[in-house]
Amino acid sequence: MSNQVKSKERVADFGEVNTSEREVNAMLDLVKQETERLDSRFLEPACGDGNFLIEVLNRKLDILVKKYKKNQYEFERNSIVVVGSIYGVDILEDNAQSARERLFNRFIEVYEKYFKEYSNENLIKSIKFIIDKNIIHGDALTLKEVDSENPVTFCEWAIINNKLKRRDFTLSDLLAYPPFDKVALFSDMGDEVHIPSPIKDYKLVNYDEAHNSC
Ligand SMILES: C[S@@+](CC[C@H](N)C(=O)[O-])C[C@H]1O[C@@H](n2cnc3c(N)ncnc32)[C@H](O)[C@@H]1O
Repeated sequence: MSNQVKSKERVADFGEVNTSEREVNAMLDLVKQETERLDSRFLEPACGDGNFLIEVLNRKLDILVKKYKKNQYEFERNSIVVVGSIYGVDILEDNAQSARERLFNRFIEVYEKYFKEYSNENLIKSIKFIIDKNIIHGDALTLKEVDSENPVTFCEWAIINNKLKRRDFTLSDLLAYPPFDKVALFSDMGDEVHIPSPIKDYKLVNYDEAHNSC
């Protein structure tokens, strides 16, 4: 078996053939500017164990390090934006869990390289919480969590000064959004516009307390 295929059964049942690093990078180069913008959002609806997501994280972390390796506060605040902008769904639980672990371990590796001495336990808890929320064990066709009637729900993480704002949206509402549907997002021509509403809106918390958003 190549490292792109785990078993014949998984290929047959779930179409699981992971993309090689070279192809991932060639594809991400097509949207290079976006991969280098800290707040550009990426969703992989069949993310496997995260081959695309980890490269998006790598590219964003490179920019984060270049900009803020000498400023721990700015690094931390912006790391919430970076990690909070990366989303995935996979129907296989082990894939979703491996993707979460890869993203978390990569973040910690970079964070500890620069800030191990004064590392912030709250930030680490917050990053873990965000990754656990953003990578969902779900079905991208039914838009539900696996073995559940719960809709796949994504959290929007927004930094407002030194505070964190969380709002939750269902994937089905987000998919009704242009360019996925015909309705315009913004228009000054009197057209119908569609702005999804959050299903839950949370109070502001400190930027490193995502795990306390409730
Ligand atoms: C071809 S692999 C690609 C994995 C990854 N995107 C990559 O390029 O390395 C397809 C993935 O889709 C997942 N999958 C299959 N059906 C799915 C569904 N209905 N919803 C979410 N994920 C699904 C499989 O578990 C598998 O990990």
